[in-house]
Amino acid sequence: MENKSPGSTDQSAFEKAGQLGNDPRIVPKRPAHMPEGDDIPYPNYTEEEQETWRILYKRQLALLPGRACDEFLEGLALMHFPENRIPALADVHQVLQQTTNWGVARAPGLLHEEVFFQALARRVFPCTDYIRPRHELDYTPAPDLFHDIFGHTPMITHHQFADFYQDIGKAAGNAEGPVRRELERIYWFTVEFGLIQSREGLRIYGNGILSSYKEVQHSLTDAVEKRPFDPDVVAQQEYDVWHMQPLLFVIESFEQLQDLFYQWARKKGLLS
Ligand SMILES: [Fe+2]
Repeated sequence: MENKSPGSTDQSAFEKAGQLGNDPRIVPKRPAHMPEGDDIPYPNYTEEEQETWRILYKRQLALLPGRACDEFLEGLALMHFPENRIPALADVHQVLQQTTNWGVARAPGLLHEEVFFQALARRVFPCTDYIRPRHELDYTPAPDLFHDIFGHTPMITHHQFADFYQDIGKAAGNAEGPVRRELERIYWFTVEFGLIQSREGLRIYGNGILSSYKEVQHSLTDAVEKRPFDPDVVAQQEYDVWHMQPLLFVIESFEQLQDLFYQWARKKGLLS
């Protein structure tokens, strides 16, 4: 495992998240209103920003064969992201509506967790529409559209994942104190950093890995310990956002993920 200090250039987005306390992009927000679906305007991106998308998209696509799970790749195909320009959130919204009855709201940056989970509970994914500056190509301390659109939205086209994701939002609405921390650990080790055992071998479904140039290459190597997904274990597993992940959890299927999470949340009184 690689040790890194704050500010190191090989940190992923998640490694840097929370590091720059004075960066307004990572101060959690509670927007009074977030436009949704067709009401989300297409920003006036600069040519440099459009080129940043082209670079990130092409580079990450090349890494996915043999690493990303089929369900993610099928979602990516459904999304039809343009390779030459930043996708419109209104278009992403349409695909989610048609596949899993989810939608997209435009988030102004990192949201207060309560606002974020409330949106998930009603099948709305809060999504940023700004892209990292060029000097943060490999990592960015704030959520950006490459992480949110490329990393997150393809999996939400998968029915079982989409239902599981909504259950996380619903459960969070009832989770306070220590159980809220447990739920956040489960979120981290599934939605952001989950692995799945497929017939062809170990594959990635975690969005934090799939949108990170470094993590996607690191996560399947022997440098990472893999354990079977067990919500009781994962809920107690601390994680460190400053390093490449040394430990990941492996699900057998999305049906298993959905079932095990639901049972855990019921046991904790978070879902009925
Ligand atoms: Fe994320």
